[in-house]
Amino acid sequence: MSPALPADFLFGVATSALQIEGAVDEDGRGPSIWEVFAAAPGRIADGSTPAIAVDHYHRIDSDLDLLADLGVGAYRFSVAWPRIQPTGRGPANSAGLDFYDRLVDGLLARGIQPWATLFHWDLPTELMMTGGWLSRDTAEAFADYAALVAGRLGDRVASWMTLNEPLVHMAYGHAMGIDAPGLTLLGGAFAATHHQLLGHARAVEVLRAASSARVGIVNHHTTVAAASDDPEDVAAAAFYEAYHNGQFAGPLLAGTYPELLEALPGADFDVVADGDLAAIRAPLDFYGLNFYHPTTIAAAPENASIPFTMVDRTDVPHTDFGWPVQPAALTRLLIAMHEQYPALPPVYITENGAAYDDPPAGSVHDDARISYLDGHLDAVAQAQAAGVDVRGYFHWTLLDNWEWAEGFTQHFGLVRVEPGSLARTTRDSFDHYRSLIAAVQGGSR
Ligand code: FCB
Repeated sequence: MSPALPADFLFGVATSALQIEGAVDEDGRGPSIWEVFAAAPGRIADGSTPAIAVDHYHRIDSDLDLLADLGVGAYRFSVAWPRIQPTGRGPANSAGLDFYDRLVDGLLARGIQPWATLFHWDLPTELMMTGGWLSRDTAEAFADYAALVAGRLGDRVASWMTLNEPLVHMAYGHAMGIDAPGLTLLGGAFAATHHQLLGHARAVEVLRAASSARVGIVNHHTTVAAASDDPEDVAAAAFYEAYHNGQFAGPLLAGTYPELLEALPGADFDVVADGDLAAIRAPLDFYGLNFYHPTTIAAAPENASIPFTMVDRTDVPHTDFGWPVQPAALTRLLIAMHEQYPALPPVYITENGAAYDDPPAGSVHDDARISYLDGHLDAVAQAQAAGVDVRGYFHWTLLDNWEWAEGFTQHFGLVRVEPGSLARTTRDSFDHYRSLIAAVQGGSR
């Protein structure tokens, strides 16, 4: 029998602005790097764009009703920077703030805590023209933007998250060119690591001054295993551990970049100025951790441009995205973080979920998603039983949405969204999550 989650455990769902809102040209919103990226041929799997996404901007009330029906205690959403500052600088566009005002009030009216992420990858295009996160100035611009949002919403938001998965934004967007802005700088993308962390630090100062809400950040984590005992595989896995898990958690929770990162070809560590690391390690009220899958690493072939290779594993099932499913890895990860970082604040799982198609098309019987959800909640309960302070879980995600470079091809929703009409239909996993939340809150699970 698995240990039970406590009755005060916080359950939620998470979304992001660009993936659901649409309305990219409405009410004064400026363009983001993702619309530019998606317009270039061959970037998005199905050639789609986020222009309409799933039309959440116009369906906010009925989407809020879905959240109320689900019975979640919190909703994690992101604020689109280009709605607030169309060029990334200057005064606030009040029509943009109005939308999030309505969202926050709509959540509170339904008894749901608003958890707001300030940056979930939709950088205003004009900021990219002056270097985006490769430029130190963007960290200061981000703090100005944070002040504008906190000035309007800071009296009602329960928790702020500065950045969403800065690792993925750096690696996919700036090192490998899979995501916007589509740069292939490899180790040269380290500047985007450091400036995002600095932006986080500056935003934390601003948020603390302007709002009494709790402040945290959201990082992507994985467990890293070497493909074999071969010392070259083991060394590649150690490097990958530093790159993936240590690159952001190290400065945030221990005040240093991992030493192994020094092997990153092309990285310029001179971007780290005196005082930066002290600012970045300022204590947080919580640590948001996103977990989807474990990772297996082998040595890179000779003359490869990066010092590792990812290897698939055949001993576990996979989601439609091709991600291996192994809930026990989440327990191991949480225990490892707890042991490695004495400064780790209370943890919330801020994303976890799975892409599965509906078999047959149109069916809402998603047993695979239900078992993914149950497995990972059990994994969280096991970590709690082992002494890790994990206080909540946000499932990714409420609605099928625009999954970045995958377009509309990957379906993560507890709610199915019909292509074309964008009509919402709850899946079995929605009912399952609702019952589970009710049972835990009632103390019977
Ligand atoms: C995470 C992202 C989120 C979504 C899920 C599937 O890395 O934060 O926006 O794409 O993956």
